[in-house]
Amino acid sequence: MSAAKVYVVYYSTYGHVAKLAHAMVRGARRVRNVDVKLYRVQETLSDDILKLMKAPPADKSVPAIDPMELADADGILLGVPTRFGMVPAQTKALMDATGRLWVNNTLRDKLIGTFYSTNSQHGGQESTILSMLPYVVHLGMQFVPLGYAHPALNEGKEIVGGSPYGAGTVAAAEGERPSQTELDVAESQGEHFAQQTLIRMLGRQAFEQQQQQQQQQQQQQQ
Ligand SMILES: Cc1cc2nc3c(=O)[nH]c(=O)nc-3n(C[C@H](O)[C@H](O)[C@H](O)COP(=O)(O)O)c2cc1C
Repeated sequence: MSAAKVYVVYYSTYGHVAKLAHAMVRGARRVRNVDVKLYRVQETLSDDILKLMKAPPADKSVPAIDPMELADADGILLGVPTRFGMVPAQTKALMDATGRLWVNNTLRDKLIGTFYSTNSQHGGQESTILSMLPYVVHLGMQFVPLGYAHPALNEGKEIVGGSPYGAGTVAAAEGERPSQTELDVAESQGEHFAQQTLIRMLGRQAFEQQQQQQQQQQQQQQ
């Protein structure tokens, strides 16, 4: 039996979303028969601008994704830091490069999940993901929300990033971020998403097999 393929694809300037991405990979790898790969989104800002932003160098040990590689995945977990409460230009550039996949319906029915980072508690946790939904809809992908699957999402005493839209971190909150709780939420989302991707692949195989058998039965009866 072939394995389902989950790609964790992130953009990160300062490393918070990158840490969530690694947690997603850890969670997804708990599921047998799922092949998990980690990619980063290509930077689009100039070195001069990145220097002004005091951005550390991107982790080059993680390969930058070629937009056409998205075609090979069964499920894609996309990680974004917010920009003015919206998806960053780097991720937009990736999505805008999928024109060929869009016209051919290549990404249609693939699963997609999201995770994110904002600097402040109310700086765009939900709106960032809402700004990604047009891509999901136009490409015909199927959004897998996190829901309230993890008890930390109902937590009131501690500042915890993340929402029913996906795992997240509040980067500038006190203490090391993502916090252990935020990483736990991310791991559980990675595991759940990998399960859903595998379930969908097995479901499609069973569906095709059943259709084939019924067609053969009909032909034999004629
Ligand atoms: C141009 C720009 C716009 C930003 N806009 C917001 C914003 O609207 N709300 C917010 O909370 N953080 C905002 N931030 C902060 C980033 O979201 C934050 O640095 C990021 O989530 C950290 O993730 P990273 O370490 O993976 O890059 C902005 C940062 C930049 C550079």
